[in-house]
Amino acid sequence: MKWIEVTTYEEMSRIAAELFSKQMKANPKSVLGLATGGTPVGLYEVLVEEVKAGDISFKDITTFNLDEYVGLAKNSPASYWTYMHETLFNHVDINEDNVHLPNGVATDLEAECENYDKRIAAAGGIDLQLLGIGVNGHIGFNEPGTSFDSLTHVVELTESTRTENAIYFEEGAEMPTHAVTMGIQSIMNAKEIVLLAFGERKLEAMEQLKTGKLSEDFPASQLTTHDNITIIYGGTK
Ligand code: PGA
Repeated sequence: MKWIEVTTYEEMSRIAAELFSKQMKANPKSVLGLATGGTPVGLYEVLVEEVKAGDISFKDITTFNLDEYVGLAKNSPASYWTYMHETLFNHVDINEDNVHLPNGVATDLEAECENYDKRIAAAGGIDLQLLGIGVNGHIGFNEPGTSFDSLTHVVELTESTRTENAIYFEEGAEMPTHAVTMGIQSIMNAKEIVLLAFGERKLEAMEQLKTGKLSEDFPASQLTTHDNITIIYGGTK
């Protein structure tokens, strides 16, 4: 595990962007695992700048996102599909056919989950997976108690996650109760992982991760067994 402590959010975003652009240059057909939330916004901004400057290209890149809300159609304002398009995809040269997020309105969600892991495998597996982390150690929507062996599955959102994410929903909009998330094993299958955490509220989770103590009550702890993972963290936000 490689730990990089930073003092500013910009520094974290820049170092993460370097890892992503290095991967994309080394293999222009890379398969990237992407994440939503507040944390990666700065990283995506740097990547957009690099595409505009002609340094990197998403032309032959394939992406798989970690998760999506159940019941939200793609173009719903709070869907992760919308977040990804507004934050990154609409501003870069990606081929929409190569963009993958779980389909939260699939009629057969079980089949959707099974197919998602199959689609990742068929693409050759994830070369570089981006992760954020919840204050309770969740990765994706894998909340405490999730099996380390889990593949993509449907989860019921915890009250704390629903409260934290309510800010992304318009006044009066119904907050989903369930989501589809890549499982912990699906995440661990990535060849390389970068986890970003910034701000005082994430420091306790960082301390717990540093102990290396494995527990399904702290989902991120399984990451300590991955052989190619970089944690970029720090600061007060
Ligand atoms: P955040 O979410 O980036 O909005 O803090 C991270 C997470 O919950 O995984």
